[in-house]
Amino acid sequence: MNIIAIKEDIFEEEADLAVFGVFSGTQIFSGALKSADKKLNGLLTVMSAEEKFGGKLGDQLVLHTHGKLPANRVMLVGLGDKKTFGAEAIRRAAGSTVRYADKIEALKIVCLFPNTGIDPAEAAQAMTEGALLADYKYLTFKPKEAKRLNKRKPMTLAIVASDASAVRSFEKGIAMGAIFARATVYARDLVNEPASRMTPTHLKEHAERLAANDKNIKLKVLDRAACEKLGMGAFMAVAKGSDEPPYFLHMVYRSNRTNKTYKKITLIGKAVTFDSGGLSLKPAEYMDTMKCDMAGAAAVLGIFSVLSDISPGVEVHGLIAACENMPSGKAMRPGDIVTSMNGKSIEILNTDAEGRLTLADALAYTDKKIKPDSIIDIATLTGACMVALGTDVAGLMSNDEKIASRIEAAASSAGEPIWRLPLPEDYAPLVIGDHADLRNTSRAKYGGAITAGLFLKEFAGETPWAHLDIAGPAFVERDALSYMNKGGTGFGVRTMLNWLKNI
Ligand code: BES
Ligand code: ZN
Ligand code: ZN
Repeated sequence: MNIIAIKEDIFEEEADLAVFGVFSGTQIFSGALKSADKKLNGLLTVMSAEEKFGGKLGDQLVLHTHGKLPANRVMLVGLGDKKTFGAEAIRRAAGSTVRYADKIEALKIVCLFPNTGIDPAEAAQAMTEGALLADYKYLTFKPKEAKRLNKRKPMTLAIVASDASAVRSFEKGIAMGAIFARATVYARDLVNEPASRMTPTHLKEHAERLAANDKNIKLKVLDRAACEKLGMGAFMAVAKGSDEPPYFLHMVYRSNRTNKTYKKITLIGKAVTFDSGGLSLKPAEYMDTMKCDMAGAAAVLGIFSVLSDISPGVEVHGLIAACENMPSGKAMRPGDIVTSMNGKSIEILNTDAEGRLTLADALAYTDKKIKPDSIIDIATLTGACMVALGTDVAGLMSNDEKIASRIEAAASSAGEPIWRLPLPEDYAPLVIGDHADLRNTSRAKYGGAITAGLFLKEFAGETPWAHLDIAGPAFVERDALSYMNKGGTGFGVRTMLNWLKNI
């Protein structure tokens, strides 16, 4: 899809579809829309009354113009309440517009949004993200469908601007939106790939490709022997049940702008390429989506794929401890005790609480080898987080108020819902072991997202650290928002890109 900004009059442009954004509960027909209605002999007024179109977010009303306008169809798309309007409403409206345009195989859409008070670059970025993400399909195993779509001419979405300076702002936003969408799509593709193909080796190859294609990215790969030598007993315990070789990937982004004054940050993504639960085997109905258990790593790789485009003013380290969690004669057992890279011993009580074991060594590695100014880990960590916050909202836990509030702000402008959960000291004893320093499950029945967070905190050291539990929103099993198809969502990519951009 091509997205462009134009200064043309929306009534002069030939198109398959002319789209007008409309707020709810206001005088719908004003400005350009009033002129459109006039040219259509008042049909829009009549139809919107008959169809009870009220501008509710995502609602659509389509009218064929029969030559009364250069565009074949006019579509009104609801933007919802003006008071709650923001970038996310634009994303959703753009997504539903593209879905409709796709259905009618439109080649050209012109689009006019009312003056909203939102920064025009931000509005165009949101529109671009919504449009491109709605257009996403995972078609690796549907080659016929892929071929059919490839044969189609690409759709052009032209955003109408009032003057040349608005065109420039829109173009800036479109460029940024395309980068954000590309990184998100990169992550979605990785998550949607079946676990038989998306192995630790495959993740390693992705990291290698990113490093080969971008001179700002360096990659260090640690294989099983190297990880053992470093003392990553927790990560290795998870990895040993699988025939797939594990890899610890350490990517570093440094641009030629990077100097000594630059801050160092570390992004860690959970990378369990399939989580069967191990010997504490998952019931079938909880296992069928577990190819998504590397969504954190997918987000980190998606971010690295565009770092040179956004050129953040920081040195970025990306860590991925990739392995599979499988039951076998070589698998870790409940009751086993392992020692992580920072010397802390861990009693494994449930082999399905494996994510925190892999992350423990990634955090310990960070503390020992990188010593960054801040750390974010992103992980499909606990079903308990879904119990607490539902499927759409990620949990945020942190040992530092400043980083937490910055991530909250970044998530809010990305339209990715996150909610802060506490890490109360009083709960810390719940993850203390009987025969080891720690245990990998809580002694308590409730609060599993928080106790997982408290476990990780033991490995972050003194560094400001934030943990995003994305077990819910990383993967959708129903068609969710207009710009999210079933499957991997790429959740967290846009939040972290915002955070990196503004650091
Ligand atoms: N990968 C799962 C968490 C998960 C659940 C991700 C649902 C996405 C959707 C994780 O490794 C896990 O199994 N956690 C256990 C921990 C428990 C055994 C303490 C859980 O949440 O049930
Ligand atoms: Zn698990
Ligand atoms: Zn898991």
